Amino acid sequence: MKIAVIGGTGLIGSKLVKKLREHGQEVVAASPTSGVNTITGEGLADGLKGASAVVDVTNAPSWEDTAVLKFFETSTRNLLAYGAGAGVGHYVALSVVGTERLLESGYFRAKLVQEKLIKASSIPYSIVRATQFFEFVKQIADYSTEGNKVRLPPALIQPMAADDVASALGRIATSSPVNSIVEIGGPEQFRLDELVRRDLAAFQDPREVISDPHGRYYGIQVSERSLVPDRGAQLGATRFEDWLTQATKPVAKAGGKPA
Ligand SMILES: NC(=O)c1ccc[n+]([C@@H]2O[C@H](COP(=O)([O-])OP(=O)(O)OC[C@H]3O[C@@H](n4cnc5c(N)ncnc54)[C@H](OP(=O)(O)O)[C@@H]3O)[C@@H](O)[C@H]2O)c1
Repeated sequence: MKIAVIGGTGLIGSKLVKKLREHGQEVVAASPTSGVNTITGEGLADGLKGASAVVDVTNAPSWEDTAVLKFFETSTRNLLAYGAGAGVGHYVALSVVGTERLLESGYFRAKLVQEKLIKASSIPYSIVRATQFFEFVKQIADYSTEGNKVRLPPALIQPMAADDVASALGRIATSSPVNSIVEIGGPEQFRLDELVRRDLAAFQDPREVISDPHGRYYGIQVSERSLVPDRGAQLGATRFEDWLTQATKPVAKAGGKPA
């Protein structure tokens, strides 16, 4: 089975490519660096030739409202057109849990357009909606930082490890299309303010997290359950505390001493 991973050099894409290859799959890791560009169409015909499944884990270089919409719309239209031409039998795309509850943000409006284009196409599909990655928590803090303070609401969040996202995508890409949305999430729920406080403390980041019911998630007003998946979500195994322990471990230099 040949699988084309579009965005194969990204955080999720690179992990997915590695896992699929370890399971003996033939994989094309496609991105502009390897000469495949979903915006211009460059390299797409060759990249998708003979692929039975495509996994779209691209992300837009700019998250500005107009730019991000243009990216996901053009990229998805091109991938679907070239995919149909190549006879791809399963189109898998990574989206975000709660997308329709987060439309105050141009990023999520663009992700919803991406999902709608996929649903309207002739290619059988699986849309995988993931919760926020552990690796993304610092970026959530950065967005809400003013001076030394990070203002966040106590909304529920059920984040997951990028590794578990890649494993779930690998499983889904090598199974039959579900022609609907699959939700994936982490094993535990947190309050957003508390999660960010723990993350910053573990990385010895001196910023102070202020719990504020009017604080925003990435500029979006969220309610208690905006970010969490439904009951039926497939859950990753990695706990936040274990991920933090690994992620904050000093990197050993050659010779075995910590850097
Ligand atoms: N962050 C979260 O917590 C979260 C949660 C749920 C879902 N998601 C979704 O997960 C997806 C992947 O995120 P990520 O963090 O893995 O992204 P990422 O690390 O930023 O990687 C993006 C990938 O897209 C590629 N790319 C960019 N422009 C392209 C183009 N024109 N043609 C082909 N490839 C292009 C990049 O290639 P280069 O390396 O060559 O630039 C890179 O391989 C996103 O769609 C996002 O919406 C994210």
